[in-house]
Amino acid sequence: MVAQNASTADVLVIFGITGDLARKMTFRSLYRLERRGLLECPIVGVALDDWSAETLAEHARAAIEATGEPVDDEVFARFAARLSMVSGDFADAATYTKVAAAIKGRTDPVFYLEIPPSLFGRVVDGLAGAGLTDNARVVVEKPFGHDLSSAKALNDQLSAHLQEWQIYRIDHFLGKEPAMDIRYIRFSNSIIEPLWNRDRIEAVQITMAENFGVEDRGHFYDPVGALRDVVQNHLLQLIGLIAAEPSSGGPDGFRDKRVELFKSIRPADPAQYVRGQYAGYREIDGVAPDSQTETFTALKLHIDNWRWSGVPFFIRAGKALPVRATEIRVIFKRPPPLPFLPKTEQNEFIFRIDPSPGVDFILQAKESGADTTRAVNLGLVFADEMAAAPEPYERLLGDAMHGDSSQFIREDGVEETWRIVEPLLESPPPVEVYQPGSWGPPGANALVAGYPAWRQPWLPAHQ
Ligand code: BG6
Repeated sequence: MVAQNASTADVLVIFGITGDLARKMTFRSLYRLERRGLLECPIVGVALDDWSAETLAEHARAAIEATGEPVDDEVFARFAARLSMVSGDFADAATYTKVAAAIKGRTDPVFYLEIPPSLFGRVVDGLAGAGLTDNARVVVEKPFGHDLSSAKALNDQLSAHLQEWQIYRIDHFLGKEPAMDIRYIRFSNSIIEPLWNRDRIEAVQITMAENFGVEDRGHFYDPVGALRDVVQNHLLQLIGLIAAEPSSGGPDGFRDKRVELFKSIRPADPAQYVRGQYAGYREIDGVAPDSQTETFTALKLHIDNWRWSGVPFFIRAGKALPVRATEIRVIFKRPPPLPFLPKTEQNEFIFRIDPSPGVDFILQAKESGADTTRAVNLGLVFADEMAAAPEPYERLLGDAMHGDSSQFIREDGVEETWRIVEPLLESPPPVEVYQPGSWGPPGANALVAGYPAWRQPWLPAHQ
């Protein structure tokens, strides 16, 4: 791999600064970085809208307040003083000349493309045409293609002017503190790692349940579906964290291990793939009346390596389910039956990613006053013990500006994850209808037959 530029950015240029993602996520994240003293450069917004710096600052303040983030006047004044605006059409070479003038003298720019991927090629061409890409980092957002070949085509557009070290692909799940925690819990506790293999583990269950529907995102969601929306990216990245080998460190050390793990995941089998659609989905604006898009998916994956061979990794993800919960549940093998303990349940280790991140260890203990066992939870909610964590975008934008690419996705990782799900895209089973507020279609239960049934997620006390 070519040497990386790990110097701190001296300007951040955001294409699409007047858009939705900036309003919902970016301003708040940058403001939080400012509050923590981690924002060190000017910010130039680029969009078609002809806004002044003042208008941009007012918009930014309203956007931050709308997220519920308390705004401190002094911190915001420092933040607002960094903002300026370049207006122009992304298709027009003059726009890039204006960007070049706005960042003149800066040598370590970060360009953040908060724009549809169909525009990535055009913008990167424009930046290169203005001589701005040589030492730049370019941050891009999913979706990275809609299958393997489109992912490769998209990458060809980016790599026409950029080397791999310059491209920072965001998967916001990798910026979640509890996702990063997985590696620390696994490898900094010597009692855990020796258990983390096919000798001790029976199955792994990953649940990403959302208790809301597609709402106003029908136009986006209907051509995409749950598999592409959250499995190919977010949930496979979680498997990368839960199952990869320890690395020697450095940005490529971590990424090499995740990709090595993806390479050992067998292409998914459509016979072990369930698709559901909640009743009422087809009435949503932007959804085809005869849509076959899945809003729920469940699948079984196999990892063909020494550590995991024979341990199934089950994933289920869906909208309009009973609760909001994302967790990884590692289910250990049952102890052998003993004369005084004819039947004992399994130990489980749970990483809760959302909401209220934490870890839980389910132990079996003696039931008081009876000669039986009962499950007890040794749950730890991180917020009760640790300081508040940065938001995912706050962490990732901070990393991009400081030249740390370890929590970003490399092109080989994108391609491997598409390779894994490709057979499911090619031969999807029919969608089964499920009732909103249920746990998806019955096929999801049949999928885990012979293994522990789907567990009710570990929920925060108040949910
Ligand atoms: C997005 C998906 O990438 O992730 C959404 O497009 C999904 O459909 C969201 O709701 C979930 O992210 P989080 O961080 O809210 O769990």
